[in-house]
Amino acid sequence: EPRTASSSGLDNVVAAETMLSHVDGEAGRLIVAGYEVEDLVKAHDFEGAAAALWNAAGLENAPSEEAVRRDLGRAREAAFALVPGLLSLNCHETVTEGLRTGLSMLSDEPAEGPAKDIPAHIRALGAAAVFTAALCRAREKKSPVAPDARSGHAEDFLRMLRGEAASAAEVEALNAYLVTVADHGMNASTFTARVIASTRAGTISAVVGALCALKGPLHGGAPGPVLDMLDDIGTRENIEPWLAREIAKGERLMGFGHRVYRVRDPRADVFNKAVTILTNGNERVLFARDVEVAALAALRKAKPGNRIDTNMEYYTAVLLEALGIPREAVTSVFAMSRIAGWTAHVMEQERVGRLIRPQSKYVGEWPEDEAAALGNQ
Ligand code: CMC
Repeated sequence: EPRTASSSGLDNVVAAETMLSHVDGEAGRLIVAGYEVEDLVKAHDFEGAAAALWNAAGLENAPSEEAVRRDLGRAREAAFALVPGLLSLNCHETVTEGLRTGLSMLSDEPAEGPAKDIPAHIRALGAAAVFTAALCRAREKKSPVAPDARSGHAEDFLRMLRGEAASAAEVEALNAYLVTVADHGMNASTFTARVIASTRAGTISAVVGALCALKGPLHGGAPGPVLDMLDDIGTRENIEPWLAREIAKGERLMGFGHRVYRVRDPRADVFNKAVTILTNGNERVLFARDVEVAALAALRKAKPGNRIDTNMEYYTAVLLEALGIPREAVTSVFAMSRIAGWTAHVMEQERVGRLIRPQSKYVGEWPEDEAAALGNQ
């Protein structure tokens, strides 16, 4: 007898076993590839964290960190060759929509070309950074900047974005961000990636589908609206009336609440520290902290039964803004990291080898004679 999930959001349904990450929403704890997330940030830059995830997924012939670095640099170069084609389409409203098209230009199994021998998970990761930087520059009518295969991934992304080298502190802050968000349990986009992988459609297809799920404002699309909210509030005097008005209208405050965490998201703390180091408490950051305190007080008063706390999108917004990343690109920068997690889940799912195919319960109309027969029973 099939069981119906407790709610239409599949809350508390365990959909897979994973070696990749564990989210403890009660304790506010996140373990990634065997590390507490705070320790993973100290131990690894982004390439190291991606290698740790792929190795945790049990990738055959586990690549060394050095091999990942080398192939990722080559993948950035191979993707750069596709940039003129992507930009010539000139049909994307947002950077994330452009990235969605760009990733679709990659092949699940390329038969030829410079990227032929680079595994799909690394091609996708390299391409995401190159396309995001080029799409951001195109919005400002600036031409794309070529990657440098010998640079670190975070460093090269910031240089491709700006056209000049970033400071060591900025590279460190971006690495902290990319490492921290690389994987996070069975979130909506990861589940999407696993469903697609279970059909054996291929890694690139799983990544494109996952990005579509990530894009929504209830998942990875929240940081842009967080910054819009800070702008809209504008002044300290306006914080409390603004929040009261929005809550009274039944609007959701972006950057607060989470399906799993009942306490503060540990990733928000990692970003908060990175922001402090990077900005030395500039006015915008101090303002964001005041809004956070007031929003939590207002939400707790309005929803006393619900344990709503700050989620990582709130400090993602503040951190990426401090790094000069345009707000329309924050979801793409999130994807630049999460591709490491998605592809590790694809590897796990492909090993499971079983199609994900749940059931639904029909609650619609029955054909007339059958309905009559059912009624007579
Ligand atoms: N602002 C105001 N009220 C809220 C908020 C919020 N941000 N979050 C939850 N609530 C209320 C909600 O209206 C509901 O109230 P009621 O019981 O009176 O109807 C109650 O709290 C329970 O909410 P829920 O909708 O059952 O909770 P959920 O588990 O579906 O929500 C969420 C999770 C992230 C969709 C939601 O908190 C939300 O919409 N937050 C704002 C958007 C946001 O910041 N998204 C990024 C999430 S973190 C991303 C990630 O980890 O990938």
